[in-house]
Amino acid sequence: MYQKKISMNVIRRLPKYHSYLIELMERGVVKVSSRELSEITGFTASQIRQDLNNFGGFGKQGSGYEVELLFKEISDILGLNMSYKTIIIGAGNLGQAIANYPGFKKYALDIKALFDVNPKLIGMKIHSLDVLDIDTISDYIKDNNIEIAIICTPKEAVKKVARILEKTNIKGIWNFAPVDFTVNADIKVESVNLTDSLFVLSYMISQEEKN
Ligand code: NAI
Repeated sequence: MYQKKISMNVIRRLPKYHSYLIELMERGVVKVSSRELSEITGFTASQIRQDLNNFGGFGKQGSGYEVELLFKEISDILGLNMSYKTIIIGAGNLGQAIANYPGFKKYALDIKALFDVNPKLIGMKIHSLDVLDIDTISDYIKDNNIEIAIICTPKEAVKKVARILEKTNIKGIWNFAPVDFTVNADIKVESVNLTDSLFVLSYMISQEEKN
């Protein structure tokens, strides 16, 4: 496992490298230059060289990067070779969609159960996963060594959910609700907001129309 501390700005670019490297491996490409990576990722070649120098400076100047080696290293850094026992809190539209998506299993998430307050949902199965009563969550996390909680509740419920999670040994929260909250520093929080991305798309289209 790689030990050097890498800045979060670099880390946030790694998923893009990771997905393009998969594409290159599928096409049988063995080596790739920073210029080629630049064309497919949209990052500048010098940015890419700087990023990749962070973890061992693969490839010599001018000879390109070994695709498979780079892929393995980036997967290692991102912890994608691990498997995290995960629960989903909020078994509504989004919670069910995440539970139903098989792609996350490939990358670290091992979803074990969903939790909800709604008696109509509790006791149901979503893609062979049980929907359990939120009141049982603390014991469940402890008994099953759960490491990640995915929050898919309405924003009004998030603070309450966060207070419960804070008292467990959970390692990370993947939060989809549109609200900020704090938990103790031992728990890593990553929030996702599709609306932010939509605003960027809207900006790009509206700029085009203004020109
Ligand atoms: P939904 O209403 O279909 O599902 C929410 C579920 O949470 C319900 O089943 C409800 O019973 C449950 N719930 C309420 N309080 C709870 C509590 N204290 N503990 C456990 N479960 C509880 O809503 P939907 O459409 O699935 O959205 C869920 C959240 O995700 C919302 O906050 C929404 O704004 C957000 N969202 C975020 C997106 C993003 O890009 N990050 C995209 C879509 C939705």
